[in-house]
Amino acid sequence: MKLTLRIWRQRDSADRGGLVDYQVEISPDASFLEMLDVLNERLTVEGEDPVAFDHDCREGICGMCSLVIDGTPHGPEKATTTCQLHMRKFADGDTITVEPWRAKPFPVLKDLIVDRSAFDKIIQAGGYITAPTGTAPEAHATPVPKPDADSAFQAAECIGCGACVAACPNGSAMLFTAAKITHLGLLPQGQPERATRVTQMLRTQDDLDFGGCTNTGECTLACPKEIPQDVIAHLNRDLLRTTRKAR
Ligand code: SF4
Ligand code: FES
Repeated sequence: MKLTLRIWRQRDSADRGGLVDYQVEISPDASFLEMLDVLNERLTVEGEDPVAFDHDCREGICGMCSLVIDGTPHGPEKATTTCQLHMRKFADGDTITVEPWRAKPFPVLKDLIVDRSAFDKIIQAGGYITAPTGTAPEAHATPVPKPDADSAFQAAECIGCGACVAACPNGSAMLFTAAKITHLGLLPQGQPERATRVTQMLRTQDDLDFGGCTNTGECTLACPKEIPQDVIAHLNRDLLRTTRKAR
């Protein structure tokens, strides 16, 4: 396949940045990131600065890959991370635009890499439990109703990639925060901090300049793990419970 890549290049956070065109030739079986590797090898040989982009596991579990491809976070394939996207999803001769996540709390560090430490700060505010650790308890010692276990497991699939924020017209982190709150709040081990968790994580999210949620649903559509909007309803129920108790 012969493609034109229109890639966002930006030296550092102070640079204005802009789109630069590159021609590449690649097999349809290559992954999107392998295609960027091939381009970077060529740029390096030619003495040019390679394109900086985030990646780690390349198997859809770490949440590091983060590209907006033709205007869509993680590209055109539903429920797929950038690292699992393959070039056969595109047509020979295509022009593909590649940009970083665009959101105020995720400033661009270089080219396609953004600083997502704002997510770490939300987790530090409440995304943990204080249940005693030690040897693994017997599996049946803490019964969890099956529907709760299933919903907690589904919420726990969030890999913290940030596509939900990049897709949201408000730059809201609500789907991410709600996934963490739902995951822990549905399990017995998550109960001691349940009330403080929701207020602290939401306050931190607001302090970090993420936007408010207006239920546009773009987050769920962009999410590679298909985290449902139900988690936001769960968060709102927890918040209501907490604020009512405080009165
Ligand atoms: S909710 Fe989905 S899109 Fe948002 S951070 Fe988690 S996995 Fe990524
Ligand atoms: S590189 Fe780990 S999820 Fe894509």
